[in-house]
Amino acid sequence: MRKWKIGLLGAVAMSAVMLVPVFLSGATPSKDAAGAVSNPIQSDPLATSNPERSNSDYIAFQVGNRYGVKDHARYLLGSGVKPFVDSSGRAQVPLRETGEGIGLEVTWDEVNQIATLSDGKITATLTAGIPQMTVEEKIIDLPTAPVVQDGNTYIPARALDNIGGWTLEFLSSDKGNYIIFKADENYQAASEAAQLLGASTEQYLANGLIFRSGSDKALARGEQISFSGMTTFDGDNSIYFPLEECVTAMDGTISASGGTVTVKLGEREALLDTEKNTARVDRQPTSSENFAFHELEETLFVSDDLLAALLGMHKTTLGEGIIAFTVAVLDDFPDQEAEITTLGEALGNSKPQLDIPEAEHYVALTFDDGPTGQSEGLTARLLNGLSERGAHATFFMCGYRVKDFHAVLDRYLDEGHEMGNHTMDHKTLTKLSVSGIHEQVDGNSDLIESYAGEKPTVMRPTGGAYNDTVKEEMVKSGLPIILWSVDTLDWQSKDAKSVENKILNNVQDGDIILMHDLYESTYKGVLNAIDKLKEKGYAFVTVSELAAIKGVELKPGEVYTSFR
Ligand code: NI
Repeated sequence: MRKWKIGLLGAVAMSAVMLVPVFLSGATPSKDAAGAVSNPIQSDPLATSNPERSNSDYIAFQVGNRYGVKDHARYLLGSGVKPFVDSSGRAQVPLRETGEGIGLEVTWDEVNQIATLSDGKITATLTAGIPQMTVEEKIIDLPTAPVVQDGNTYIPARALDNIGGWTLEFLSSDKGNYIIFKADENYQAASEAAQLLGASTEQYLANGLIFRSGSDKALARGEQISFSGMTTFDGDNSIYFPLEECVTAMDGTISASGGTVTVKLGEREALLDTEKNTARVDRQPTSSENFAFHELEETLFVSDDLLAALLGMHKTTLGEGIIAFTVAVLDDFPDQEAEITTLGEALGNSKPQLDIPEAEHYVALTFDDGPTGQSEGLTARLLNGLSERGAHATFFMCGYRVKDFHAVLDRYLDEGHEMGNHTMDHKTLTKLSVSGIHEQVDGNSDLIESYAGEKPTVMRPTGGAYNDTVKEEMVKSGLPIILWSVDTLDWQSKDAKSVENKILNNVQDGDIILMHDLYESTYKGVLNAIDKLKEKGYAFVTVSELAAIKGVELKPGEVYTSFR
């Protein structure tokens, strides 16, 4: 019987940092929009009946949407223009688009901040900041004032109600808040407008789940959350998501019994049979070749398509590795897609995912002064031996050797090892000027990056020599200074048995072991030591992994000799 870690997640702290505070005002129906809930739009606009075509015309806007509708088509509003709900809860629409859309002549007096609207016979004027409208010398009070925002002028939608025979209609739905001006008040424009405009970005965020592949953060219902374990991983045809954390983030519940996992989200209930590999949502069997489960470190992951089915949401794959699960269909709404992509990019990349073996004791093996030899050379054979034993190590490389022997660099990263910086020319940093220190260290980091695609994450000064200047400069270089707690003296003995014994006789949990991948004797001695220590419950991890296991946050410029 399978056992998932489900139910333990209650203890996981999810940081509920508001990423987009502005969205909340959009999520709450505005005062203007709230009055019109009597005519809600269905959650899927395609499911609504086509509006009866008439000769009537209408224009439509949506709060938070840079597109409007006129002539039964979506169009991009002026640069930066976006209808919004002001602090009084009233919908503000763009002056020019709205006025001209309902057949008025619009002028804007920039100096005096006065808008003039005319149908050729009657003229109305409005002043920014003043909640009044003057129509042929008659003053009409408005519920809120026109505003100028980011160089664009907006007027309260209410100011244009029943002007020139156009009727104003507000609609609030789970797709957002729509503002519609109709030449014929009986004309059913809403569903067409919804179809053309889609949901507002705010509504997508308020109900959606946005991931960025490789990030340990996501946007759930508009809030940024952090995942405690692995967020996503790539499968053959799918991206996999941690089910429980996703369900919890969406305020659902999840429970497991035997091979059955039950997910409840609002009214929805889904059952996953992890033995038979089937899923039922609201008692309906669902199937797709891309529905899949995957168990990893006792966590149940589900494929993107299956997650969408369980959440009852649409999946959209955006740029930059961003996947959006949303209530409304997001495809074909480029403005909303662009906004969500921008928000997704802000999620950033994750810290490196740790892949830590189960063990009683952990140590970090470190190898200085390499690499040695080409793809068949000493370092390559050492990598083979480490790989066969499931051991990770940290390689403190010298730039002058990287230039000759960079063939192994790709293997470091591919096989889970850590890249370290041991200066360009094996120069003693305490004898160098500040610029000399940076030439030796930063120059080597850049060189390593040019071959491996990544910079080293840790550094070891030549001979372990450092002073306050070196520490200060390593803060600028962003590198923690790693020394050692067990010295094998392999350079002195050049004897495999001696290397092996130095390790076996001195090692403790949390140690950093100093070696050099220059000698055949080191290669033989360390592999023998690994075999014997594995039997005693030791695992071999990188320096950064060891720090993480021991709860130490490595800081640039700080010196570490062990994590005992
Ligand atoms: Ni050295």
